[in-house]
Amino acid sequence: MNNKTLLENLRSIPDWPIKGVNFRDVSTLFKSPECLRIMSDELVDLYKDKGITKIVGIESRGFVMSSAVAYHLNAGIVLCRKPGKLPCETVQESYAKEYGIDTIEIHKDAINEEDIILLHDDLLATGGTMKAACDLVKKFHPKKIYCNFIIELKSEFPHARDTFAKDIEISSLLQF
Ligand code: PRP
Ligand code: MG
Repeated sequence: MNNKTLLENLRSIPDWPIKGVNFRDVSTLFKSPECLRIMSDELVDLYKDKGITKIVGIESRGFVMSSAVAYHLNAGIVLCRKPGKLPCETVQESYAKEYGIDTIEIHKDAINEEDIILLHDDLLATGGTMKAACDLVKKFHPKKIYCNFIIELKSEFPHARDTFAKDIEISSLLQF
């Protein structure tokens, strides 16, 4: 898709948080009413005929667009959170990060076997976070899982999509 306005508004910060990383700062897209509308319209257009019943937003930057899109798709939102934030019984998934292990979790009663799930996050880099989120959602046996990102760092991480099962449909609004 690579909408010109989105590309023009996306801020990149060299050498943050560590030297060598060119950080893609989606907050500059979130603060622009025009960009918010473009992202929402594109996402709704992509998923309006898929029967999505719930959007699983990944903490924290995945929460923002999940809300706008869920409203238009008449879907609910499920929070996929870092450990210790959810108050009720959860299902968890742990995954390896560059340094150490990370865990994400979802409330145990948040998804059922009738659901068609759209998982959403702001960025696909290594794919570790979203792969863990997919594995977590699979434990609930939903009818179908879709994955979406605002940004896909394709040239930096060309094999990120290979980590996902073939039956999971993946899309991204910006690829570079
Ligand atoms: C960033 C980004 C994605 C993830 C992508 O989140 O927002 O969620 O990393 O990286 P990956 O594809 O290599 O897993 P971060 O963990 O920094 O947390 P935040 O969204 O709460 O800032
Ligand atoms: Mg994140």
